[in-house]
Order: sequence, then C-alpha cells, then structure tokens
Amino acid sequence: MAGISFREVRHTYRPPRGKPVLALEGVSLDVKDREFLALLGPSGCGKSTLLYLLGGFIPVESGAITVGGRPVEGPSPDRGIVFQHFALFPWKTVRENILYGLEKQGMPKPGREKRAQEFVELVHLKGFEDSYPSQLSGGMRQRVAIARTLAVEPEILLMDEPFGALDAQTRALMHEELRAIMRRAPKTVVFVTHDVREAVYLADRVAVMSARPGRIKEIVDIKFTSNARGEELLQTREFADKIDHLWKLVRDEAIRAQGTRE
Ligand SMILES: Nc1ncnc2c1ncn2[C@@H]1O[C@H](COP(=O)(O)OP(=O)(O)O)[C@@H](O)[C@H]1O
Ligand SMILES: [Mg+2]
Repeated sequence: MAGISFREVRHTYRPPRGKPVLALEGVSLDVKDREFLALLGPSGCGKSTLLYLLGGFIPVESGAITVGGRPVEGPSPDRGIVFQHFALFPWKTVRENILYGLEKQGMPKPGREKRAQEFVELVHLKGFEDSYPSQLSGGMRQRVAIARTLAVEPEILLMDEPFGALDAQTRALMHEELRAIMRRAPKTVVFVTHDVREAVYLADRVAVMSARPGRIKEIVDIKFTSNARGEELLQTREFADKIDHLWKLVRDEAIRAQGTRE
C-alpha cells in the first residue's frame, strides 16, 4: 500500500546569511493509494518544499510524513521523482540514462536491457535509444526523464512542475501520455503545478495551498459526470466550473503572496 500522510508539517529554511524563512506551517493531508493528487499554489508557497520533504531530500523537522504507514527517513527507490528541469546525464544516451537506475537497483543485465527498451517504447522514443539529451527536444528529454523514473517501477511518483518548461502543444501531448501511462500502471502520484487547467485535467483531487507559509487551503474533488475525454472534456461546463473555482482560490493566494513579499 502506498498511501501518504502529512501531519502538521512545518518547515523553516535557515540560510547561513539572512533571516529564517517559514516555508510551510501546519500542513496536514492524506493521499490515498493510487490516487493522483495535484498540489496547486502560487509561486513560493512551498510546493517544492513539501515534495522534497516527501521525497526524503530534506529532513522532516516538525510534524510527520508517512508512506504506507512508515515515516519518511530519506530518499527511497519506491518514491520516484521527476523535476521540472530534466535532470538527465548529458554524457549518457537515452538508453544509458534509463539503464542507470536499473543498474543501481542491481537488476541483472539482460533484464535491465529489456526493461529499458520497454520504457523507451512506452514514452514513444523508439529510434532515439542512442541519442544524447542535447540531440533531443525539450518534450523528448522530459519523456526520457519520466521513462527513467518509471522504469524502476516506484510505487509513488513525485512530479515537480514536470511540464513547466515545455511549450503548450508539447505539454498537451505529455498530459495525454501521462494519463495513458497511469491507466496502464496506476500509481500514487503527487503532482506539483501552478497551472490550474493542468491540475484539473490530470488529478483525482486538487489540494490548493495558501501563500507562504504554505498550508492546505482547500481540497477539491475532481469528478466529472460527463464521459467526455481529451479535448471534449475541456469544452464541458463542469470542467469550466472547476477551473473557475480553483482559479479564484489560487488568484486570492497569488495576490496575498504579492502583498507579503519583502
Ligand atoms: N534553500 C532555501 N533557503 C531559504 N529559503 C528558501 C530555500 N528554498 C526555498 N526557500 C523559500 O521557501 C519558500 C517556498 O519555496 P518553494 O517550496 O520552492 O515554493 P514553490 O515550489 O511553491 O514555488 C519560498 O519563499 C522560497 O523563497
Ligand atoms: Mg517549486
């Protein structure tokens, strides 16, 4: 089981110079096993901080974060992370980038070659196995990053604005691909974004964060009665209503964030 729970999580950054920054305060949130949860909020509200705490990249100082009932104590291969800036090895090919995590996992060679190829195909990069990241477009690089993370088959996928650097068309294609991948192999996903439409399109629930110090302001269920999919869903009244509601929540917080910026 890969349910996630945050209880009264608080985080303060203490830069060596300058004042401490209270980034998160009293964050409590549950993500169900195999749920796709979007974390939505204005820039600087602590979304990445929350994800890095969950990833185990920064220690939890106050409050508790558990995964499957166990406290997070550091990074773990069952929590795969995809960043906004495709952290690929530039000196490795597409195949080698995907193989990297499998080697680290200690998977035997024939098995990992096969697995890498499966994931190359899953993200539609067949024919580009021997290309280097510099030879690929932004969308393709991000697909490699996703394939590399998915190939180790983490139970939980953490994504920090993974499509933020892509143009609108590529982003729309990536949304379709991500949905298809999730249908094939459902996972618990925490997806950070400041894009309201992206959140509504992808998530089962959207947790809206307040301006810094980040808290959970409201959780919105995304369920549609219409059977419309893809472009059609985007045209429906209920889709527009969700966007409207979330947009207002985020806008209020973005205004507050502007007002409190020192
Ligand atoms: N290493 C750091 N030192 C000091 N302040 C930081 C550090 N990292 C982030 N912050 C501050 O913490 C707040 C939350 O940051 P972040 O989690 O990156 O927000 P978001 O991802 O929502 O844009 C911001 O005000 C940011 O400036
Ligand atoms: Mg961020």
